[in-house]
Amino acid sequence: MPRYSDELIADIFAANDIIDYVSKYVALTKRGKDYMGLCPFHSEKTPSFHVNADKQLFHCFGCGAGGNLVQFVMRSENLDFVDALRLLADNAGIQLPEEDSSYNDERHKHRQRIYAMNKLAARFFYERLTADKGGAKALSYLTRRGITGKTITVYGLGYAPDSYDSLLNFLKSKDFSEKEITDASLAVSRDGKTYDKFRNRVMFPIIDVRGNIIGFGGRIFEESELPGGYKPPKYLNSGETPAFDKGKNLFSLNLAKKSDSKRLILVEGYMDVITVYQAGIHNIVATLGTAITENQAKLINRYASEVLICYDMDEAGRKAVLRAIDIFSKAGGKTRVVKLKDAKDPDEYIRKSGAAMFKKALDEAVPSTEFILSVIRLNHDLSETDGKIGFVSEAAAALSSVRDSIEVDAYINKISDETGIGKEAIYTEYRKHISYPAGKGVQSTFKTVQTTGKAIRSIDKPTASFDAQRRLLNLITGDKHIYDAVKDIIKPEDYSPGIMQELAGRIYGCRAEGREPDAAEIMNYFSDDEMSMSTASSVFYELSEYKDKRASALSNVKTILLEKNKSEMRKYADDINKLAELIAVKNKLEKLELTWD
Ligand code: UTP
Ligand code: MN
Repeated sequence: MPRYSDELIADIFAANDIIDYVSKYVALTKRGKDYMGLCPFHSEKTPSFHVNADKQLFHCFGCGAGGNLVQFVMRSENLDFVDALRLLADNAGIQLPEEDSSYNDERHKHRQRIYAMNKLAARFFYERLTADKGGAKALSYLTRRGITGKTITVYGLGYAPDSYDSLLNFLKSKDFSEKEITDASLAVSRDGKTYDKFRNRVMFPIIDVRGNIIGFGGRIFEESELPGGYKPPKYLNSGETPAFDKGKNLFSLNLAKKSDSKRLILVEGYMDVITVYQAGIHNIVATLGTAITENQAKLINRYASEVLICYDMDEAGRKAVLRAIDIFSKAGGKTRVVKLKDAKDPDEYIRKSGAAMFKKALDEAVPSTEFILSVIRLNHDLSETDGKIGFVSEAAAALSSVRDSIEVDAYINKISDETGIGKEAIYTEYRKHISYPAGKGVQSTFKTVQTTGKAIRSIDKPTASFDAQRRLLNLITGDKHIYDAVKDIIKPEDYSPGIMQELAGRIYGCRAEGREPDAAEIMNYFSDDEMSMSTASSVFYELSEYKDKRASALSNVKTILLEKNKSEMRKYADDINKLAELIAVKNKLEKLELTWD
């Protein structure tokens, strides 16, 4: 949460008008109560981006992006909450107290110190490439691998000297303490001694989308052995620090985001990225030495509408591809798989076959479903009846997670042709897998949908209850009488756990204190991620005109409580007494009326 006082934040809001500010980015025209324009966060041809002066909020009905002015700045400038606030303060000529106790967030300062150290370290490593004998060896290693001087500069590659204290001494001379240097994962402490973490390695700075150097990867480049016959790992990466989270960042996304491509290539290694980039293909990123996470998939979806997974094609690589497909399907992204023949990874492929062939392989990338089927096919001998049956049954199971029925149909046709097993039989097998397991009623509400442009997140088939919760909170925000009529019947804890409950708590809280809920102010509490901002702003930005607000309030209350009752019935399906109780509640709910003063 903000480290400035609420008063100061309110001043900054008051001094900036959302319409004026957003107009710098989007051509807005007034339509009714709202200003509208083409959404800057996804590509569209007809405007679905709304800004409202009274509420001081924006909301896009196409991609779900929404929030207050600070959150608009966060998104459009890629800043965190505090930096966005600072920008707006600057904009309005408000002096922010730099050393004020209200700006005393230790974590924030700590992170800034680590960025500063990393930047110095990167420069130090870079200069060492041409400064000493070890550096010359590292440089010639890179040259041998075909890396040009220009690429070295673009990526800021460097050399960590074969020494236990050269970086340490350098950073100390710049007034950083040993503790800070170890906290940044640039040095390690053991048995009371502190020494450089990266020694005699080629260094790869890892840079986030805002341009901060958040960590490093370091590769050995000659056979070396530590005392005791211990072999150092090929790559050594920075450990987790307040500035570095391996699961939330991607190598080279800072460069890839500048390419206009709506596709992003995902590879496994730093060297793969660098070689492909050097070949003129810039829309490429890699994970940071771990399997891809859902957070990384979401990050990728922000910049691309399609991911081309290009991993090693050995057994381990295939498994990693399947895992990645699964992660992307959870995060809502569209994936294809690139198959490279006769090379272990993209780096080797480019060097053997050239950039043109690599581009061709990208264009021939297969849809993820096809890839999954091809992996299943590998495990069965289709010339035998048993093999065919095994293949069909596994393939049918795999198809059950495909959402598009036309796609399913096409694959079933293909499998039928391939095996000679009838389509109906395959359908029957497929249907066995698509019934929803009990208790899985509440499905994820948000999903990334694909449009012609970038991947956008939109509200996709919200459950009846979620929609009703949104409407009811919207009504309560706008009308005190509705709050009075429903507050004893439906409490914040009756809303879905998570964002909805928290929103309800805040909106109810304002009403209970006799205040009008201030949408832009409440939005500040939901600055952590885009999903929260989007959900919260969709509550404040309900657009439907209510013909009869009271009737609508009642029907929403009923929907929410009846859905809740239904899910409890499922939960207590074996408990006769509890069920009887729930049925009584249900009967009462069906007859519910609200009283109005
Ligand atoms: P690879 O072994 O495929 O390496 O590991 P690479 O990127 O192709 O590198 P070269 O071509 O041998 O130089 C893929 C990624 O896995 C992580 C690194 O992020 C690497 O880029 N890795 C690998 C580690 O973190 N530690 C290791 O010891 C090895
Ligand atoms: Mn490699």
